[in-house]
This record gives sequence, C-alpha cells and structure tokens, in this order.
Amino acid sequence: MKAKINGNTLELITGDITQFSTDVMVNAANGTLMGGGGVDGAIHRAAGEELLEECKAVRNNQLHGDLLPTGEAIMTRGYNLPAKYVIHTVGPVWGEHSGEEAALLAKCYSHSLLLSFEKNMKRISFPSISTGVYGYPVEKASIVAIQTIGEFLKSNEFGKVTMVLFSREDYETYVAALEEYLSE
Ligand code: APR
Repeated sequence: MKAKINGNTLELITGDITQFSTDVMVNAANGTLMGGGGVDGAIHRAAGEELLEECKAVRNNQLHGDLLPTGEAIMTRGYNLPAKYVIHTVGPVWGEHSGEEAALLAKCYSHSLLLSFEKNMKRISFPSISTGVYGYPVEKASIVAIQTIGEFLKSNEFGKVTMVLFSREDYETYVAALEEYLSE
C-alpha cells in the first residue's frame, strides 16, 4: 500500500528489510549496539563485520561506554547493505517503562526521521520496531508508528518512507493503521 502525505510517499511492503535498496535502513537494536537476533541480527549479518566495528567505536567514543538509551538513535554507515546509512534505535520493552512505551516508541521513529532529514537523505526504511523480542503488541505499535511518521511527513518535505513488514499479518495490521490515520 502507498499513500501520499504532503507530497511525500509512505509505503508499506512485506519482506526482508536487508534486501531493499534505500538511503537509510533503520535497525531495531538494543542499547549495547552489539547486535542480537531478529532484524538486528539480519542487518549485522548482511552488512558485514565493519558495522559491528563502527558500533563499538560509537559505544566507546560517542556514548563513553554507556548504553544507547531507549528512544534514542545513532547513525553508522551501511557497508555491504543496500543503504548508505544505518540508524540504530532502541525500542521500548513492552511493560517495562511505566506507561511511557508509546512515547518512547514514537521517539524511535521521530529521531530516526530527523537524523535522516538532517543528512539530506530522501529514502528511509523501517522495520516494525519493538514488536518482536521486545513484545510490543503490533496493533498498538502500528498506530504509534503510522501517527509519528504521518505527522512528520505532514510538516516536512522528506521523500519516501517505507515500512518493511516481515509477515503478512503485520502488513495487514499496518495497512489498517494507515487507513485509519488517512481517514481521520
Ligand atoms: N526484515 C524485516 N523485519 C524483520 C526482519 C527482517 N529481516 N527480521 C525480523 N523482523 C521483524 C520481526 O518479525 C518483528 O516484527 O522485525 C520486528 C521487530 O522484531 P525484533 O527484531 O525482535 O526487534 P525488537 O522487538 O525491537 O527487539 C529488539 O531484539 O534481536 C534483538 O538486539 C535486538 O535486543 C534487541 C531486540
């Protein structure tokens, strides 16, 4: 499904995010930035070892050894991925943020969009952040994701945002959220 918002495109597709060419690929990382399972593992495998090396450098130099906080985002190069850059963002773990989950999830999307915008990147692709290992119900997460992306596109000339959903069920859930958003 494709929608036009203020001259920008918001597209929903199914597939493996590592296979789609873009300017910025967003990774649903964890605070260590050291890789993991799910989409994080797939992105690190497809990018090659240099991605982990750069993540280690960011941990040491930019974060002074601390974890990347939930809702924040940092950018690295894309190495062997079909993307110029990767944005690593840390989604909320469902039920562990005292009701702040939605606000934190929205921050993941808005920080990633802003970082890309500042770099003059026109195309960004997102996975469904937090809805795997981190347990965020996909119906709720899809509403937060679509609202946040939609509001950003309403007020910026960005280009194209693609959400790459891993299953048909997730795709249908995001389609419902987008249709609801467009009808508001
Ligand atoms: N392409 C697109 N989506 C994918 C891919 C892929 N190659 N692989 C998995 N997904 C989907 C999952 O099906 C889920 O819908 O990405 C969504 C997010 O799931 P997770 O990758 O588990 O991410 P998250 O819930 O944010 O949990 C983050 O998982 O692997 C660890 O290091 C990561 O600790 C962090 C945690």
